[in-house]
Amino acid sequence: MKHKTLKFEDGVLKLIDQRILPLEIQYYEANNYKEVCEAIKKMVVRGAPAIGATGAFGYYLAVNESFMDQGNIKIGNIKEAKEELLATRPTAVNLQWGIKRMEKVLKNNLNKDIKEDEIVNRLLKEARQIAREDVESNKKLGEFGNELIAQGDNILTHCNAGALATVGYGTALGVIRAAHYENKKIKVYIDETRPRLQGASLTAFEMLEEDIPATLIVDSVAATLMQKKIIDKVVVGADRIAKNGDTANKIGTFMLSVVAQKYNIPFYIAAPTSTIDFDIEKGEDIEIEQREDKEVTEIRSVQIAPKGIDVYNPAFDVTPSENITAIITEKGIVKPPFKENIEKLLI
Ligand code: MRU
Repeated sequence: MKHKTLKFEDGVLKLIDQRILPLEIQYYEANNYKEVCEAIKKMVVRGAPAIGATGAFGYYLAVNESFMDQGNIKIGNIKEAKEELLATRPTAVNLQWGIKRMEKVLKNNLNKDIKEDEIVNRLLKEARQIAREDVESNKKLGEFGNELIAQGDNILTHCNAGALATVGYGTALGVIRAAHYENKKIKVYIDETRPRLQGASLTAFEMLEEDIPATLIVDSVAATLMQKKIIDKVVVGADRIAKNGDTANKIGTFMLSVVAQKYNIPFYIAAPTSTIDFDIEKGEDIEIEQREDKEVTEIRSVQIAPKGIDVYNPAFDVTPSENITAIITEKGIVKPPFKENIEKLLI
């Protein structure tokens, strides 16, 4: 992609503002950790791996701010900032994963004879490393996923699991990019993905930018396309994968998996191993974020439903592992039995 999801320059985290894409290309500037929290909460930046890397830079900013204020670094002084960052969005486990990684670097360095400004430098290095590794992982998983794609496949995807949802390249769209660059003549069907329309605004934008053949559909068309045998494969991303393979992803994913199973269409999850929550046994244990009513009653600030109507607006759902054909990771393709094979990824 021409435009970077995030870049850290001169002490400022710059995030492409995904709330206004594709109409405008503007960078939101986060100068401190509170502005990072705001960016994640308001969905300037979204997508599990992108949130993970953003949280890591947010943690670095919090430590740096605390060091500037107090003249020293104490774990206790970072606690509040850490909690605030973690509370911004609860489902995508990459946020917790990124912050845990940063905290580990801080703890490992604090008890050594290392100057505090050097510790701050090491934290920035770690955040940059997390960002770099994300792009590398996506490229690797893209290559693995490409092995599953045949010449001329029609691929259905949901939400945006692309370069914009990661630090670069993408997960589900990473697989699609790899197949396209190998000239497999694939075609992508993009669910618009109500309520926030990440498919229409972001996935469509990415596909057009790279001339990848794609057709935009409203979410309710997907089942008809599968019934008509137009879709060969479904490839989507993930926000959190439990140890048994149950996968939380954008609301509507579960429904696609049910239809795919009915018509024997392979259903793939593409995600880096940073999206696997090794502390959670099954999907029921995953916290699902509930978002505000306005996302449903309005479309880009235009009211479409009567005032006062009750709304139910979960941001994610859980696809049970039995509906998943395989999980594509940077370490390889994980097939059932998931419980056993996901555990092997830890080795
Ligand atoms: O609410 P969002 O836009 O953050 O949800 C994003 C998704 O559900 C993506 O599919 C998921 O994070 C994978 S991104 C590589």
